[in-house]
Amino acid sequence: MVDTSDAWIQERTGIKERRIAAEGERTSDLALHAARAALSAAKLPAESIDLIVLATATPDLTFPATATRVQAGLGIESGAAFDIQAVCSGFIYALAMADNMLVRGQAQTALVIGAETFSRILDWTDRGTCVLFGDGAGALVLQAQESAPGAPERGVMSTYLRSDGRLHDLLYVDGGPSQTQTVGHLRMQGNAVFRQAVNHISDAIRQAAARAEIAVEEIDWFVPHQANQRILDAVASRLGIPLERMVSTVALHGNTSAASIPLALNTAVEDGRIQPGQLVLMEALGGGMTWGAALARW
Ligand code: UT7
Repeated sequence: MVDTSDAWIQERTGIKERRIAAEGERTSDLALHAARAALSAAKLPAESIDLIVLATATPDLTFPATATRVQAGLGIESGAAFDIQAVCSGFIYALAMADNMLVRGQAQTALVIGAETFSRILDWTDRGTCVLFGDGAGALVLQAQESAPGAPERGVMSTYLRSDGRLHDLLYVDGGPSQTQTVGHLRMQGNAVFRQAVNHISDAIRQAAARAEIAVEEIDWFVPHQANQRILDAVASRLGIPLERMVSTVALHGNTSAASIPLALNTAVEDGRIQPGQLVLMEALGGGMTWGAALARW
């Protein structure tokens, strides 16, 4: 469709494969699948969920929230469900929101979901973006629990969220209900976003670690937003993080926006890398611009 090559894509991004949702398959369908898998891994029934926070920039419809469709799909009749819109940083924002609500006692057990069908908003004539993004969903169950006396705190230990609306033009969609009454296509100044990503992500990692009074060297696993292998490499090099502690799935999924962190997390939990008690740092940067990080003890 465009003047590109597999060699260019692999060399400049690290992407080897990606997934595209089937015709008629919606973001909520992917999210529901991920939600069921997360509930099964947590050995919890759907009725135990009283909060669903779903991060997406590609909702099924302008409204209602895709999260409410997932809630209905799971047969849940109580609690609250809503979407978070922070594009590729969405999962970090959703995790922070759910964590705060659990800490405040507003919910007991949350599903935090990142789900996207970015294939629907790509301009398939723009080689600078159409080769990068894919579809997918991942989910996490977060539950309010008291730590056992003397035991280290588990779950989310700190979050750090930032945005800077002045950087809007670097990454945006050129359509929407209020401005154009269309869905629009993704537009990105890739090179400028790349530089913002390396700077802000490095800072966000330091901030989230400092807020939890943890040294970056103590962190067992880094689970970044999967945009480009070269961003992961640059952040690792800047902070002196050994590359083998950086979970990378960009080769398998491409950039799945808000879904990329839970997809990578799932990969590293399933293959046994992430073990209970270990420190896991998640981070992302996306349109807005938005960025942030979250540190958790698994
Ligand atoms: O998830 C939200 C955050 N998003 C990101 O973090 C993405 C950040 N950006 C990137 O990952 C990279 O900037 C890209 C992968 C998008 C582009 O890589 P780059 O090394 O920054 O390339 P560039 O934009 O500086 O372009 C270099 C060259 C250009 O050609 P000329 O002007 O040097 O002749 C582009 O036209 O590569 C060309 N190019 C391509 N060539 C073949 C751009 N896209 C393609 C392509 N195939 N698909």
